[in-house]
Amino acid sequence: MPDGIIGSGEYEYWQALSDSMEMHWSTTGDTIQIGLAGRAAGWVGIGLGTPRMMAGVDFFAGHVDGEDAVVWDLFSENPRCPIRMDTAIGGTNDILRYGGQQVDGVTTIEFERLFATGDEYDYEIRAGDPIAIIWALSDSNSMTVPHRERGSTTIILRR
Ligand code: HEM
Repeated sequence: MPDGIIGSGEYEYWQALSDSMEMHWSTTGDTIQIGLAGRAAGWVGIGLGTPRMMAGVDFFAGHVDGEDAVVWDLFSENPRCPIRMDTAIGGTNDILRYGGQQVDGVTTIEFERLFATGDEYDYEIRAGDPIAIIWALSDSNSMTVPHRERGSTTIILRR
């Protein structure tokens, strides 16, 4: 359940992205559920299918503001800021369910998406493939403020 708490055993797989960020994920027939937990006071996010921040990348990021959590379906038209909501550039919001919480300086977001959304601003995920991802975290809730930490790695989506 995307409630902002990553329970033990809730996800099939996990990977440490750095000392301050973890990614957890599971897949069902045609969807992926992702949990991101980062030691950050602001947003945490990932970009799919790329080793670098560049134009044309599908991003997800979210933050928690008091009781409210938001997770955005984003896309970069430029190699740097801004990254924009898919819905702001003619795409669709393809986050099926989401949640988030901030506890003890760690921001956790959880969300679910179809592997293939049909939106031109979304990366098409194929189970079994290695996926290059970039990740970032920020102490600000604003996506106009760049990250405090960022990096890249590869995950393999087992079925
Ligand atoms: C989920 C969101 C984001 C991710 C995963 C991400 C990831 C990255 C990564 C991995 C780099 C390293 C260099 C490179 O790949 O070329 C980078 C660089 C950069 N990003 Fe982002 N980024 C995100 C959001 C943003 C936002 C919102 C901004 C601006 C408001 C921004 C501004 C920059 C800038 C200026 C650089 C170059 C300077 C540096 O290396 O720190 N990024 N980003």
